[in-house]
Amino acid sequence: MKNRIERLKKEKNAVILAHYYAPAEVQEVADYVGDSFYLAKIAKQSDSDIIVFCGVQFMGESAKILNPEKKVLMPDLTADCPMAHMVKDGIIDQMRAKYKDLAVVCYINSTAELKCLSDVCVTSSNAVKIVKSLPNKNIFFIPDHNLGRFVAEQVREKNIILNDGCCPIHAKLTAEQVAAQKEKHPNAKVLSHPECDAEVLAVSDYIGSTADILAFAKRDESKEYIICTEDGVDYKLRTENPSKRFYYTDPRPCCKDMKLNTLETVLSVLEKEENEVIIDAELSERALIPLNRMLELAK
Ligand code: 13P
Ligand code: SF4
Repeated sequence: MKNRIERLKKEKNAVILAHYYAPAEVQEVADYVGDSFYLAKIAKQSDSDIIVFCGVQFMGESAKILNPEKKVLMPDLTADCPMAHMVKDGIIDQMRAKYKDLAVVCYINSTAELKCLSDVCVTSSNAVKIVKSLPNKNIFFIPDHNLGRFVAEQVREKNIILNDGCCPIHAKLTAEQVAAQKEKHPNAKVLSHPECDAEVLAVSDYIGSTADILAFAKRDESKEYIICTEDGVDYKLRTENPSKRFYYTDPRPCCKDMKLNTLETVLSVLEKEENEVIIDAELSERALIPLNRMLELAK
């Protein structure tokens, strides 16, 4: 299957982008593997005719919005991020009516419709920097309250209003689960994604996006780590750090939508050119504004 995928990529001038949460065998055939921010930048720079995006809907959508003229395919169009929908109808308008100078800051893990209603997008690796750089005092951070709270703690000068949304995978992790691993591996450092609850972040040695966690594990001198994020990162953690050990909370955090990306589904979309991401042109143009603003402000 890997050989057939390689051949089709060349024949069709296609590129495969995969998030760190995609299964290991998919990361192996991908041309670019990264966190949401890196993949958005790569999608924008790509000169291929076809982009196969191995992630979830908001990632495929963002790639299409950034490249309206390209064919963006997803191995499984039903792979979705539940958090991307967790903003109540009408609440953005209510907030805008309440705060005159409001900036709506939208985590990229959101639908194209929510991006249209927002002033700027962020990812977990640039949220603090971008929120700091905004002239607005009042910020409505959607949809993730955990990332919003993490940003608020570091940008004290702003009034950051949180929304009632979260990642169901990260929000399930508890401080007790971390403590249970710590008991077994007392020297292990705890590395966590900011989508985790406050109680997990409070017992963490390092907090960052998936790419930040990988970079930290590479440069740090410890030998053992307890990883508080989705277990797809394990593939790169192990291949980049063969002498180090990585442990996960029990049960191991797993995003079933990310795991819908398989060698079979990648091969199938490359062969048939099915599962194209289609976005209404007007919606796409409006959603491009906060995405481009993110790319500018993050520079
Ligand atoms: P990253 O910003 O680290 O890519 O995280 C995306 C995500 O979906 C986390 O659950
Ligand atoms: Fe969404 Fe959570 Fe899966 Fe990331 S891990 S894609 S935030 S459900």
